Amino acid sequence: MRRPVRIAITGSAGSIASNLLFKIAAGEMMGKDQPVILQLIEVPQAMEALRGIAMELEDCAYPLLHTITLHDNVEEGFSNAHYALLIGARPRGPGMERRDLLEVNAEIFSRQGKALNEHANRDVKVLVVGNPANTNALIASRNAPDLSPSQFTCLTRLDQNRARGILATQTGANPRDIARVIIWGNHSPTQYPDLSHATIHGHPAMDEISQDWYADEYIPQVQNRGGDIIKARGVSSAPSAAQAITDHMRDWCLGTEPGEFVSMGIVSDGSYGIEKGIIYSYPVRCNYGRYQIIQGLEISDFSRERMKKTEQELLDEMAVIEHLLPKDTADSH
Ligand code: NAD
Ligand code: LMR
Repeated sequence: MRRPVRIAITGSAGSIASNLLFKIAAGEMMGKDQPVILQLIEVPQAMEALRGIAMELEDCAYPLLHTITLHDNVEEGFSNAHYALLIGARPRGPGMERRDLLEVNAEIFSRQGKALNEHANRDVKVLVVGNPANTNALIASRNAPDLSPSQFTCLTRLDQNRARGILATQTGANPRDIARVIIWGNHSPTQYPDLSHATIHGHPAMDEISQDWYADEYIPQVQNRGGDIIKARGVSSAPSAAQAITDHMRDWCLGTEPGEFVSMGIVSDGSYGIEKGIIYSYPVRCNYGRYQIIQGLEISDFSRERMKKTEQELLDEMAVIEHLLPKDTADSH
């Protein structure tokens, strides 16, 4: 049996985590031979609810679930963590944009970045889910000067999964046969779901759909899916977010399928002319626990315009929280 890995999760009593924890304990994220220690973190008011979830996890008697620990502070909760899933945040309600949450969440993610810097394993892999996810990841990373910015990612896999699912419904293909769908930019309505490199059964996806449907229906549908779910359910997506978190971490740690791209919010190195240092969703491939941006893709004017628009939104978000970033590290990445 392998040595157990420590997975710290904030927002553990929330809707996403309530779906996610059971998938992790069942081995869907780290593999069916990898025992896990779950370090569950919540705000003090939610600790009783968290105890209830811990009882349910225990009652499933998962062979891979080594230990569960409960924490009402991140300093203790992140201790020696190999993986940190930052889910806890104030969620967006009807009519609110992610930007509205910027300042509210900046404080939470500054503290979490500092706590990771001080207490987590030096190779910790961090996934930020709480919105606005890209900018929260930037804040956490900038507050963790002893960790590499490449250790901080944010979730855009949900957008990628949505893009595949909606395309599958339109074309009648199985999502399994759709590959190389890309999400560029921000996890927000400016994101750009790009099908120019996508394939269905190995053939160009764009041959199966009309340009009008793509530009006028498909792109807005993927971009606004999060808001549409909130309108319909009254709460934000949870089971699909839990699935996407599982997919993101599994691929990062265990590697992507041969020939496939996946999208991850990662620190920009300037690839494709995007501002260096912001957390931007790129197509990547992963192996040996590392990700690499897919280089050399041809970018049309149609794509370039949309990639720039979502980049601009991230630069605007950064301007709003710039005064909260630590001064000594703000220029060093
Ligand atoms: P939720 O309100 O059901 O749960 C959030 C939980 O986080 C609550 O239990 C709350 O007590 C806890 N929490 C809040 N602040 C915390 C802190 N500082 N430390 C520890 N725990 C804290 O929300 P949810 O539906 O689980 O969504 C969580 C976040 O994920 C929201 O910000 C939501 O917008 C975001 N989200 C992102 C994506 C994505 O694709 N990136 C998708 C869906 C939802
Ligand atoms: C989503 O995409 O479902 C989430 O980010 C929820 C939201 O706030 O839009």
